[in-house]
Amino acid sequence: MSAAITTSNLTKRFKTHVAVDSLNLDVPQGAIYGFLGPNGSGKSTTMKMLLGLTRPTEGEIRVFEQDLTPASRTRMLPSIGSMIEAPPGYGHLTGLENMRIVQDMLDLSAVQIEHALETVRLTEHKNKLVRNYSLGMKQRLGIAMALARDPALLILDEPTNGLDPAGIEEIRTLLIRLAGHGITVMVSSHLLDEIDKMANVLGILANGRMIFQGTRDQLFEHSIPDLVIETPDARAALAQGITATPIAEGIRVSGLGKDQTAELVYRLAVAGVPIHGVRRVQQSLEDVFMDLTGRGGLL
Ligand SMILES: Nc1ncnc2c1ncn2[C@@H]1O[C@H](COP(=O)(O)OP(=O)(O)OP(=O)(O)O)[C@@H](O)[C@H]1O
Ligand SMILES: [Mg+2]
Repeated sequence: MSAAITTSNLTKRFKTHVAVDSLNLDVPQGAIYGFLGPNGSGKSTTMKMLLGLTRPTEGEIRVFEQDLTPASRTRMLPSIGSMIEAPPGYGHLTGLENMRIVQDMLDLSAVQIEHALETVRLTEHKNKLVRNYSLGMKQRLGIAMALARDPALLILDEPTNGLDPAGIEEIRTLLIRLAGHGITVMVSSHLLDEIDKMANVLGILANGRMIFQGTRDQLFEHSIPDLVIETPDARAALAQGITATPIAEGIRVSGLGKDQTAELVYRLAVAGVPIHGVRRVQQSLEDVFMDLTGRGGLL
């Protein structure tokens, strides 16, 4: 599959602080690329570099297989729609008036503007002042502004931030629909849950470094399934000084390999803890993510 975005050794330092550290991004064409990482991990800074809003300290960026340079950027930017950090838009203007600014700036047609408003379901609210929009409507207007140019690539920084579950679902459905039409979508979030249901490729950042990039299935390959030890006496098991979570059936322990499992079961048996069963259960994606970002290690 050809790439929509690749970077090599992409780095941004602010004085001595390394905000983005040697990133090798690979965003396949047509994918929904979920760009994940805790607050401050470097998502917005990376996206700003991709859009030429911040100059990289080091590294190269290729968009649709062409080097992104100050000269090529002007040519390429019209095919990239973006929304970085807070949704744009002037509060004292209506949704439509805001869209008209975009129309004039990019020399778009009235049809493109109407179509973008319709895609994000704002047609019936287009004559309201943006300051009276709900947060979800503001986010959708931001997406409409990014979409109006009929981009081949959309870069959206936390478009679901602060939305309620219905608002999140609506944006998710919209992005899946856009990807269905061949648009490559790169979307960031600090919440895995919001991204997991739509992304087919995940890139996970921690402290400016890419700690994982690949599919959801590949991510699970890095996970050690939890161990459930069924016992009616969880208290006795926990008294053995192990790090475990009490659950209805007994206790649940994370991150144990084969030898450690054998050792633990032996220890509990010797201590007289009644063991009724031992089984493995898949970690939740959230747990895998927390383990990864918490550890900050490289895969
Ligand atoms: N203009 C700047 N000057 C100095 N440091 C900056 C600047 N912009 C970002 N940083 C630092 O770079 C790091 C990455 O910030 P960035 O905004 O990219 O993170 P993020 O992953 O988008 O976080 P969030 O989830 O909070 O939006 C942070 O430590 C931040 O303080
Ligand atoms: Mg950010």
